[in-house]
Amino acid sequence: MTTLAVIGTQWGDEGKGKITDYLAEGADIIARYQGGNNAGHTIEVGDEVFKLHLLPSGILRKGKMAVIGNGVVIDFDVLKEEIAQVTSSGRTVDDLVISDRANVIVDYHKFLDGAEERARGDRGVGTTGRGIGPCYADKIARYGIRVGDLLDEEVLAERLDLVLPMKRRYLDVLGDHRAIDRDGLLTRLLAHGRELGGHVTDTSVYLYDAIQTGKKVLFEGAQGNMLDIDHGTFPFVTSSNTTAGGIANGLGIPPQSVGTVIGVLKAYTTRVGSGPFPTELEDETSEMLMRRGGEYGTTTGRPRRCGWLDLVVAMHAVRLSGITHFAVTKLDVLNGMDAIKVCTAYELDGRRITHFPASLKQVERMVPIYEELPGWSDWDEGGSFNIAQEGYDALPAKMRSYLDFITEHTGVPVGIVSIGKDRNETIDLMGEKW
Ligand code: GDP
Ligand code: IMO
Ligand code: MG
Repeated sequence: MTTLAVIGTQWGDEGKGKITDYLAEGADIIARYQGGNNAGHTIEVGDEVFKLHLLPSGILRKGKMAVIGNGVVIDFDVLKEEIAQVTSSGRTVDDLVISDRANVIVDYHKFLDGAEERARGDRGVGTTGRGIGPCYADKIARYGIRVGDLLDEEVLAERLDLVLPMKRRYLDVLGDHRAIDRDGLLTRLLAHGRELGGHVTDTSVYLYDAIQTGKKVLFEGAQGNMLDIDHGTFPFVTSSNTTAGGIANGLGIPPQSVGTVIGVLKAYTTRVGSGPFPTELEDETSEMLMRRGGEYGTTTGRPRRCGWLDLVVAMHAVRLSGITHFAVTKLDVLNGMDAIKVCTAYELDGRRITHFPASLKQVERMVPIYEELPGWSDWDEGGSFNIAQEGYDALPAKMRSYLDFITEHTGVPVGIVSIGKDRNETIDLMGEKW
């Protein structure tokens, strides 16, 4: 198999961008298959810092093709800003292809995202406000505007004339009475089509041919398995299938094309936005994790809620996505702690359970069952650790035991260990991957 998937196993922000960028070195093509600019993937390359929301993280490596698949929802204003960010660093986006079937985020999706959140009041999802949910809702309801529509004025005008009156009425009901300029919108969307139309193609055909001819394709997930629309903590989720199942639909390729699946697992847990989080901490440990881990949203800047590692959540991802290896990130953030807790099960109404229930009422009553593991000293203080020279065996023994514990409980080997933001702060235990 010549494909590799990188997906988030928790509630997002596990470090997928860093791991994708690291693995992209060996890939020919990097493809995003779901989500939109709700995602925020931070990649540090030497002194350069990139925050990508839509462009596949592989765009930073020379000579790689980048694909935005049909399952992604695209805000063209954001895409253009991001292209500018990448090109101003001296790189090119010549090798970017965009699916003609991807749905487009239009202004009214963003207005609706805000209006619907306000209508939900204190039961709000805490969305990123980027119009993601309303855009996916339109796709399912068959009112969406697709990338291909931006290339044909007649088709686009007809779509807008069908959709806009409905959006105006719905926004009105939700108390948002602003006017939407139909002609202005049409002109802007057509301009996007003219400007980026050269990148638009049938990416399913492109990928099929690429996989048939043995090209190495890296699938880059956004968000995390617990934010999956079907399998996450509904309704506190995003609006796409973040699990490995989303890859085939989101790129228009057969499910058998998905080979190795690397589940990115942060060494502790974070969550942005509302919703259940069983191992959440609200004490000095949480503050320490937030501070040392720089846990502020890449997209919205909101502080991320922090807590202990939850292996019930990790197992949920293993079952849903067929994780073959974990990439464990941010282990360095745990340096210097006396003891580290890991949740291995929950107690629910006097019973021990090892799966994540669908009912949020049950989730509210659940109490995490922890095992306590010894911490390790902070090598940063001594400044003596050098990955390039010393590698895995030189990691603190107790850190290696922490990784062993993850594998014992999940049956999934750790393939990649990340102990810093930079590409170089990565230990690869997988060897041959493709
Ligand atoms: P993503 O959405 O999964 O790509 O993750 P984000 O980019 O939103 O958040 C992860 C943050 O952690 C980014 O700022 C990364 O630069 C940083 N990061 C990734 N891996 C490591 C690591 O091993 N150690 C530390 N300290 N930071 C890391
Ligand atoms: P990456 O790819 C973390 C969360 C939002 C909110 C919920 C729904 O960087 O890991 P949406 O705007 O999608 O309708 O918001 O999902 N969320 C994320 N949390 N990382 C992300 O992406 C997220 N994308 C969406 O905070 O709780
Ligand atoms: Mg992120």
